Parts: sequence; C-alpha cells; structure tokens
Amino acid sequence: MFSPGVYQRRRQQLKKLLSGGVAIFIGNEESPMNYPANPYPFRQDSSFLYFFGLDEPSVIGVVDVDQDQEMIFGHDITIEDIIWMGELPTLKERGEKAGVFTTHPLSKLPDIIAQAVKEGRKVHFLPPYRAETTLKISDLLGLRPEFVRKYASAELVKAVVALRSIKSSEEIEAMEKAHEVTYQMYIEAMSMARPGRYEQELAGRMEGICVEAGCLLAFPIILTINGQILHNHYHGNELVEGRLLVMDGGAESPEHYAADITRTVPVGGKFSSRQKDIYSIVLKAQEEAIAAMKPGVYFRDVHLQAAKIIAEGLKDLGLLKGEIEDIVQAGAHALFFPHGLGHMIGLDVHDMEDLGEDFVGYDEKVKRSDQFGLAYLRMAKKLEPNHVLTVEPGIYFIPALIEQWAGEKKHSEFVNYEQVKEYLNFGGVRIEDDVLITETGHRVLGRSIPKKIEDVEEITATK
Ligand code: GLY
Ligand code: MN
Repeated sequence: MFSPGVYQRRRQQLKKLLSGGVAIFIGNEESPMNYPANPYPFRQDSSFLYFFGLDEPSVIGVVDVDQDQEMIFGHDITIEDIIWMGELPTLKERGEKAGVFTTHPLSKLPDIIAQAVKEGRKVHFLPPYRAETTLKISDLLGLRPEFVRKYASAELVKAVVALRSIKSSEEIEAMEKAHEVTYQMYIEAMSMARPGRYEQELAGRMEGICVEAGCLLAFPIILTINGQILHNHYHGNELVEGRLLVMDGGAESPEHYAADITRTVPVGGKFSSRQKDIYSIVLKAQEEAIAAMKPGVYFRDVHLQAAKIIAEGLKDLGLLKGEIEDIVQAGAHALFFPHGLGHMIGLDVHDMEDLGEDFVGYDEKVKRSDQFGLAYLRMAKKLEPNHVLTVEPGIYFIPALIEQWAGEKKHSEFVNYEQVKEYLNFGGVRIEDDVLITETGHRVLGRSIPKKIEDVEEITATK
C-alpha cells in the first residue's frame, strides 16, 4: 500500500473531475473455487485499490462529491475471525491507512445511499464484472441485475480512466518491481527451452519465481509450442527440437501493478532460416514501433506502421503481394497479425478493460474500426506522458484461418495462398515489452530481456 496521502490526492482529483453526486467503489469478495471456504487467491478490484488501497475483501468506499466527504464501509473482525485468520487492525485503523477518517459498518451503507437517492443526487458506480458486485448494486439502487451495467456512470468511468491512465512515480516504481521479477522469470525459462522438457516445467518455474518473490502472476501464463493459438493456456506439450516456443507472462507487484512480456525462442537453441526470417520481421516491427512512441503520436498510427513492416517482410518472402499501403488498408496482413499492437497496462494487465475498452483506448478523435484485425486494437488514441503500454506485434500461421480465407479467396489479390500453405506448421512469433511514455519520448520498463536473434540463441538451452 502507498502512503495515505497518495489515496487522498487521488480522491481529491476525482472530486474535481465529477460534476456532483456520490461515487461508490465496491471492493471484491473472496471468490470460491469449489466450496465457500476454499477461495481463489484474493484479488482486490483495481479501481477500489486505486482510490482506497485496502487489499482485503468486503470493503466499500464512497466519495461524496457534494459534501466533500469520503467513507469506508466494512467489518470489524470478530473473535471467530481471529481464531481462523488472526488479528487484523480495526476498520478505523485500516481506513486511516487510506487517509479516510470516517468508517461505518457495511449495514449502514443502504441508508446512506437511499438518502442520496431521495435527495435526487446522482449515485455513480463503475460497470461490475463479478456477479456479487452486480447484486450489491442491484440491492442498493433497486435496479434489476440485468440493467445494472447499463446504468453504470459514464461520467465516473471517464474520470477514473483519465486518472488511472497517467501513471505517477510510485506507480512506475511498482511496475519496475514487477518487471524485475518478470526478468528473472524469463532468464530462467528461456534457458530451459530444451527438447524433452514439458511446457508445464517452464511455466511452473516461472510461476514459482514469481511467488517466491512475493508476487502473483498478473495473468495466467501463456507458454506454448502452438504460439499460433493466441491465448493458449495448455501446458502439457513436450518441447520438440526445431519448434518455436512462445512465452507470454508477467508478475504483478505486491501493490498489484502488472508486467506483460513475450519472448519467442527456438527449442534447442537454433532458429531455422525460415524461423529467422519471420522472427526478424516481428523484431523489426516491434523495435520500430517502440522507437516511434512519444507524446502526441496516435497509437493507431504506430499499430499501422508495425502492420506495414510486417506486410513488407511477408511480401519479401513471397507470402503477400501488391502495394504495402493497399495490403494494410485492405487488412490482408491481418491473416498473419490478427490482433492489436498493444494495450495500456497498470493495475490490470489490460488496464481498465472492465470499464470499457472504448473509453480507455478511443475518444472522440479516434473511433474503433470494424475491420478484422484492426478491430482488436485496444488502444488507438494519442499518447501522453506517463501512459504505459505494451508493444507486442506477432506473426502467426493459423491453419483454420488460412484455410477459411483461401477457401473464400479472401484478399487473393494480396495473399499468395500457395506459398502460405508451406508455413501451415510454423506456429507463431510474438515479441512484447512494456513502454512508458516520457515527456520527450519513451522508456522501456525493466531490465532488457534477450530478444536479438544471437542473444536469444545464446540464452536458450543453456541448462
Ligand atoms: N498478455 C496477454 C495479452 O496481452 O492479451
Ligand atoms: Mn499483452
């Protein structure tokens, strides 16, 4: 947890951004795996953490904009709780850690909200992503559960996105911690990519390093010799000589700030010449995209620049044909690069995705495209100092997609399907780093994890 002043400052800024009313931030509950007393690791709601910091279940924060007041609602623990979970500071003491000096039992919240409603004041809440939060809002405001998301406050969402998008120095420090642990995870796992090992050995070692460092994973590790499956969480395959292994993972710091890194390595430590060709295109797209990042640049343009580098490289290999501008404008490159270049990252890996991607990555100046590929771009708007984003281009050969497009002769003026069919068993390559936008340019977070071909070959298979 940061110092109380950090949370007080954030709530002050929030009050300035809201026109009035009362904003409720509902913390998460424990989430049971298979019976109530056997929960998944607890993860607090990120916006609650941002404004109130308390990393525990069953707390709710309220910011009353009209009365310039902040409150925390929760429980004082009972003797039963002490027997099973040990002592905890009182609610009053926990509130003080967040700079909140008014605390109440949870049972008092409905009256306070009912009073605000009676006075005709706006009650703002964020769109919930857990069923029990939906039910709490439903109860508090007398809304049917299925309408709760619809009545979430766009004004509050915009204010929270405006604040959380700009990372402060203590947030960047927390992200650096996550990156240091992630560096250790990668140095170890990359050096283990030997034939005969199993994906789960590497994934398990990565998670172990993370937990040993007092962190949790920021998201379930993707570690697969089938990198063409973008979010592949299966870890049961044996590593086979000559196959590419995609590793996409990251630690979450004790303050819950994420890292999100991807590296692709050749099992056994030597890229084939075809793998080198594809890898070099992805690396060039990634390095040039990072080089272009500075305040004032639209991330959509950086995405399109990466798409052009990918199209150019694939054209040189004979997989695409035609003018690069035309290929990218038509979206033919998306057969190989079907996702966005990156997303904001912070308290969430896909930062604030729960608040609505279009509020986070788009604005009145840049609207989301509906073209296949570009439509998945989560962040398109202008870069500002202290944004942090991932940069993660990739090239994949997805047999089902290639078959479908070839069958439809889709973009056949741009795609050499006969050549593409030679690559059906290739898998995929993705390379990802996290980039902070500075006043004048950018800085890649964390220690540098090998990504040049020689360096990747050197570290891979050294164990
Ligand atoms: N690291 C997984 C993703 O960005 O979707
Ligand atoms: Mn990512």
